[in-house]
Amino acid sequence: MQERIAVYPGSFDPVTKGHLDIIERGLTLFDRIIVTILCNPYKKSFFTAKERVEMLEISLKTHPNAEVDTYDGLLVDYVFQRGANAILRGMRAVSDFEYEFQMALMNRKLNRDIQTVFLMTSLRWIYTSSSIIKQAAQFGGDVSDMVPPVVNQKLKEKFLARDCKK
Ligand code: PNS
Repeated sequence: MQERIAVYPGSFDPVTKGHLDIIERGLTLFDRIIVTILCNPYKKSFFTAKERVEMLEISLKTHPNAEVDTYDGLLVDYVFQRGANAILRGMRAVSDFEYEFQMALMNRKLNRDIQTVFLMTSLRWIYTSSSIIKQAAQFGGDVSDMVPPVVNQKLKEKFLARDCKK
């Protein structure tokens, strides 16, 4: 039988436990998930692509069927190139819906053979996002239960380094 491969695209700036939850649950539906860092032109990244890859790889080392990659270009082109069948995305609250719906429809317009599959975020992570976690961490908030340990450490190092430069 053909391998079922999904691409899970995102900024992952940084990866959160909400993302990991989507990947773990996605692995019950797909044989393999390629977690791909792409450019979101509406967001300015905080961590470099290299740092984001490293944090994802460490966080996913117990999941051999999850691969980490980066791509600079159109998502549907990448999905096609990798021989994947689907784009996997997580959906949190209603506030995500319009953005996700628009992106899924545009991707389908660009390539009708690629389906977008949504998983509802587990209730536990419904209020988390990389942005809100970064904001809390920036002002000294404890985000250790919302991110993998490597991310918690990196956030501390990065914000500490920034303070020193002031
Ligand atoms: O985690 P994000 O920032 O919501 O992810 C958005 C992302 C990176 C998946 C999206 O911006 C993207 O697909 N960027 C690559 C360019 C592209 O193909 N855009 C889709 C056409 S609408």
